[in-house]
Amino acid sequence: MDERLLALRKNAALRGEPVLRDKSFELLIRTVKEKQPKSILEIGVNEGYSGIAMLLNSSGARLTGIEIDEEKVKKARENYRIFGVENKAKIFLGNASEIIPLLSAKYDFIFLDGPKGHYGEYCDNLLSALNLGGVLFADNVLYRGYIGENRKAPHKHATIKHSIEEFLRKITENKGLKTVVYDIEDGVSITEKLYE
Ligand SMILES: C[S@@+](CC[C@H](N)C(=O)[O-])C[C@H]1O[C@@H](n2cnc3c(N)ncnc32)[C@H](O)[C@@H]1O
Repeated sequence: MDERLLALRKNAALRGEPVLRDKSFELLIRTVKEKQPKSILEIGVNEGYSGIAMLLNSSGARLTGIEIDEEKVKKARENYRIFGVENKAKIFLGNASEIIPLLSAKYDFIFLDGPKGHYGEYCDNLLSALNLGGVLFADNVLYRGYIGENRKAPHKHATIKHSIEEFLRKITENKGLKTVVYDIEDGVSITEKLYE
């Protein structure tokens, strides 16, 4: 992995930016290396680190990102230039709830790392936007250990809990999908679309 990228990620984490944690990041990169997607969608770009890492580890891939924070979009575009991937990456600035339903393209790989309280809402549209054989990789699916019928969450996290549980139901109960949930860090799910 590019040392400069690792250092920038580490620095962003120290500044309190919500970047993907180390083991989940390694799993993301391992999965991208194995699948070699040509088209990637990222929900929640932040300053661009995971997007850059995915592009550097898949030959010929193009990335579309969605990010609501204008300052983060500026920073991500600057980082794309620093790593020479600016011609392979574009970002839609705006709310994923409004942008996802308008997507007309299909993707080989979708990385869901946006607002946790909307995973359930995004799920159907993201699965429709996934090519056959494609992968939906989602972070935070075991959110703080609050996920599961017999787990309690503080009231302020109830919306996120319900949304992630809805998301998990959809990706595990659909017979056209193969899903593995990894109990690492905040929880990661990897879903492969086997048939429509
Ligand atoms: C966990 S961070 C993404 C980290 C990034 N994937 C990485 O690992 O480098 C989540 C991002 O989602 C963005 N976000 C939050 N709500 C959003 C929304 N409704 N639509 C689009 N982006 C949103 C936040 O601004 C934040 O940058």
